[in-house]
This record gives sequence, structure tokens and C-alpha cells, in this order.
Amino acid sequence: MADEDFIVTPWDVEGVVDYDKLIERFGTEPITPELLKRIQKHTGRLHFMLRRDLFFTHRDLNWLLDEYEKGNPFYLYTGRGPSEKTHIGHLVPWIFTKWLQDKFGAEFIFQMTDDEKFLFKEDLSMEETKELAYDNALDVIALGFDPKKTQIIIDTENAKTLYNIALPIAKKITFSTVKASFGFENSANIGQIFYTSIQAAPAILKSVQQGKNIPCLIPHGVDQDPHFRVCRDVLPKLGYYKPASIQNKFIPSLLGPAGKMSASNPNSTIYVTDTPKQVKNKINKHAFSGGQPDIETHRKLGGNPDIDVSFQWLKILFEPIDKKLDEIELAYRNGDLLTGELKAILIEKVTKFLIHHQKEREKAKDKLEDFIVRD
Ligand code: TRP
Repeated sequence: MADEDFIVTPWDVEGVVDYDKLIERFGTEPITPELLKRIQKHTGRLHFMLRRDLFFTHRDLNWLLDEYEKGNPFYLYTGRGPSEKTHIGHLVPWIFTKWLQDKFGAEFIFQMTDDEKFLFKEDLSMEETKELAYDNALDVIALGFDPKKTQIIIDTENAKTLYNIALPIAKKITFSTVKASFGFENSANIGQIFYTSIQAAPAILKSVQQGKNIPCLIPHGVDQDPHFRVCRDVLPKLGYYKPASIQNKFIPSLLGPAGKMSASNPNSTIYVTDTPKQVKNKINKHAFSGGQPDIETHRKLGGNPDIDVSFQWLKILFEPIDKKLDEIELAYRNGDLLTGELKAILIEKVTKFLIHHQKEREKAKDKLEDFIVRD
């Protein structure tokens, strides 16, 4: 990080991310009020993740909507590298994608990159990443995607299809492009160097299968943009559309703005399989607070919701109703609401959410075969 204050790549996020600067660095477009209005014309009331600026940047969304308005509908594509059990942060773009599917009636491809995680994680075997792919797929299905319009691809289970699409893409990407885009050193294994062509493949999968170009929209975390930047350079050379994208900010770890949600620290996040007791403990003990050190000072000075992780999680995922969120924010800022009380609100919301999710997750075990495609 010598000459930069923060780093964002698909494999590494360091420092405090300045999203305006990131837009400049990556060369994406901000989501403007005009664009929001345009989306709203088709969806009705905007999803709170759009209203609250969690999805903050995009590529080619206006083009995608032009096509849609001309009667050329798009499909959705997103994915997950299955390196651990699913946690709350992973669900955010998937929940948003479900909303897009509902509003636009769009088909949807979900890619589970078990190959990627095998190649990039020293300590994971192919058996483990494949098992995690099946496990994580339950969480996708549990969110209620339409089985008739949704396909889950596990890379190693769909290798023939993907490989045949990835090869011509790979042929157009040089080693130096990959080095510059992802910061690989010469010590990178050669599977890692090839991998981006596999992540590009679902962006044209429907076009290849149907023999005509079909627009594709990829909702994803902003860290994945380098993959799709490379992909967008290459696909027109092969006669395909560039995929459009809509990108979300990072979800803060329980431990605070500087902490990372990671498998190596289970207290940094909440897993979808956590029990009500674990939820309560984690939030009470570990959720970073923007409150004052003692009640008296808190009543006098108030708390800071901008850095308070409990408040941020309510804003990002657990309190969709703006009026309620505003009330909580105000009460916290002016000291009426204490940190413990704010945490209690979050605990109740998360617990309710997880009880429902865990039920759906159980049911999803019988639905796997309706969603997973193999070749
Ligand atoms: N590389 C992503 C990860 O590590 C997984 C992924 C594959 C993905 N295809 C995608 C993410 C498309 C977003 C959109 O999680």
C-alpha cells in the first residue's frame, strides 16, 4: 500500500475504502438520481439497497435499459467463491438479485466457483470446495429464486460447457493483462492466471446456447469489477455484448469499519446457520459500537450511527422500512437510544431472519436438483 491509501482487488481489500475514488480508479459510472428514476419506471418503489446507496455504481445500465425498453430482455448473473459457510454479508447481493428477478422477470445464472477457491486457497482441497459449493447453494435457493428461471452452475460439475466457452476468451487475454489487473506475481499458479476466463463465461452462456446475443446484468460486490473489466474488453472481439453490472459496497464486519468478515474469525460476522444464542452473544460482545463509554455521556452527546455496526447492518439489510430506520437513527444520535437497546433491535431482527432462512434452507435440500445444472 506504499503509494495508495486503500487497495481493492478480488482477493484483497486493505485500508478504508473511499468509494468516490474507487469509481474513478475503476472507471465505473456512479448511479445518479436520473438513473434511479429510470429504474423505478420499471420496478415501482426502489429496493432499499438502491435507495440507501449500497448499490452505488454500474457499467452500461443505461444501455441495458435501452435494450429492455426495445423488447430485448436481459438475464442476471452473479456468483460465489465457496470457501466457507455462507454468512450474512454474502446474502446482500443475492437478495438484491432476487428483487431484480422478480421485477424484471429475468432468467438468472448463479456460478459457484469451487475451482477458483481450490486454486486460490492454500488449505482447501477440491472435495472441500465442491462440498461447500453444494452447501452454499442451499442458501441461494432458500432466498426464493424462481426454479424455472434460475440455474446454479458449480464449475467442476459443469466443466465441459464452461471450458468450451472460456477457451476463446482465454485466448484473447494476455499474461500481462492479468498481471496488471489482478496484481499477480510470477509465483502465481497457472490455474489462477487462467481463472478469469471461467468467471467471464456465464456472461455469454445464454448467448452461446441460444445462438444470438442476449444482454446480461451482473450484480456484484465492487471488488469483482477487475474480472469484468477484462471480460468486457474481450467479449466484443468475439462478437458478444459487454455485460452490464451493478455493484455494491462492502458490508462492514461486526468488529467495525476496519475489521474484515472472515472465516478465520467467526466473531467477525454472523453465519446463516448460527443459533439465536450465538447471534445474541456475537452482537452483544463483538458488534462495534458508535456509542459513548458510559450512559451519562451517551445521553449527553449521543451515539454515532455512521460508524456503529449494529445501525449499519439495520440499514443495509435488516430494517427495510425507512421511517423506522430514521427513528432509530435520530434516537441514537440524540442519546435517547442506548447501545444496548440498539443491539437488542438488531438481535431481534437477525434472529427472526435466520429462523426463517434456516427453515427455507432445510427445504432447499430437496430442491437442489431443480436448480443445479451439470453437463
Ligand atoms: N469470484 C467470486 C468470489 O470469489 C465468485 C463469482 C463468480 C462471482 N462469478 C461471479 C461474483 C459473478 C459476482 C459475480 O466470490
